[in-house]
Amino acid sequence: MIFKVLISDPLSEEGIQPLREADNIEVTVETNLSPEQLKEKIGQFDALLVRSQTKVTREIISSATNLKIIGRAGVGVDNIDLDAATEHGVIVVNAPDGNTNSAAEHTMAMLMSLARKIPQAYYALKHQKWDRKSHVGVELKNKTLGVVGLGRIGAEVAARAKGQRMKIIAYDPFLTEEKAEKMGIDYGTVEDVLRKADFITVHTPLLKETKHLINADAFKIMKDGVQIINCARGGIIDEDALYDAIVNKKVAGAALDVFEEEPAVNHKLLELPEVIATPHLGASTIEAQENVAIDVSDDVVNFLTGGLARNP
Ligand code: NAD
Ligand code: MLT
Repeated sequence: MIFKVLISDPLSEEGIQPLREADNIEVTVETNLSPEQLKEKIGQFDALLVRSQTKVTREIISSATNLKIIGRAGVGVDNIDLDAATEHGVIVVNAPDGNTNSAAEHTMAMLMSLARKIPQAYYALKHQKWDRKSHVGVELKNKTLGVVGLGRIGAEVAARAKGQRMKIIAYDPFLTEEKAEKMGIDYGTVEDVLRKADFITVHTPLLKETKHLINADAFKIMKDGVQIINCARGGIIDEDALYDAIVNKKVAGAALDVFEEEPAVNHKLLELPEVIATPHLGASTIEAQENVAIDVSDDVVNFLTGGLARNP
């Protein structure tokens, strides 16, 4: 029996070698399919591999009459309708740790760029403006970094920020005071984190419970001049509330890698000089893309050939 695998987002060619090398697997790579085209084709395939561009909706899953497994080359599975997958008996696997390091490094790059206004200064200089006055930053040393969500990436960011001599306060439902002490950080409720931090970085998944976790009420209790980083998921921060908080000078700056709707072009937040941004690049390194593609490819090969997937 030959199993047919569709890869519908760009994945690392090195990373998908396990699929190409498997005897009974035929790989089709077709990126940029419209939802209608995907719906039409998906019935032929036993497995679907995606990154974050492909939205695997209920409609797609309902048309996927042969589909057995969906592999998400990355952490977040919020682009896949998990309820629909479960109802149709389709297993969903992800790659939970292959991009942790890259996402943590990107968060640190955003934190430091934000503190020192590097993108704004670069932009001015590229436009023939030698402007030193507008680009005075702040030091990270002795500032407090509030980490909301201390999972894989949050914990890596906390460890790196300690290297910048920052104080760390974190909230995560699974964090205990004892664990925080061992990590050399402070433990607090989400309100404690919001009240005490000079910089706040969010690292939760996007769930019903975390949607707009950082909203207008949350901004109210933060310090004046707080700076916000989101390299996790658009939607954790209420973008309208963030816009208002920046315009009202409550928030001094924000660094965003992710948006509620992507691609985010012509977004009103991008018009604000206080906002720096990247187009969802947290996991965009050669290493991370190879790691996550290998992880899901191995899982899909194992599953289709009768073994167990490691990351269901
Ligand atoms: P993880 O599962 O290891 O950690 C998430 C943590 O959030 C967990 O410890 C969990 O207990 C905590 N959490 C859940 N609900 C919470 C709440 N209400 N308040 C506070 N904490 C809560 O995941 P991770 O690998 O660290 O990924 C974190 C986020 O980063 C995810 O949203 C993921 O999709 C995203 N991500 C983005 C990029 C990117 O390219 N920008 C790359 C990788 C991951
Ligand atoms: C993830 O959830 O792993 C990230 O969003 C990375 C990505 O797939 O781009």
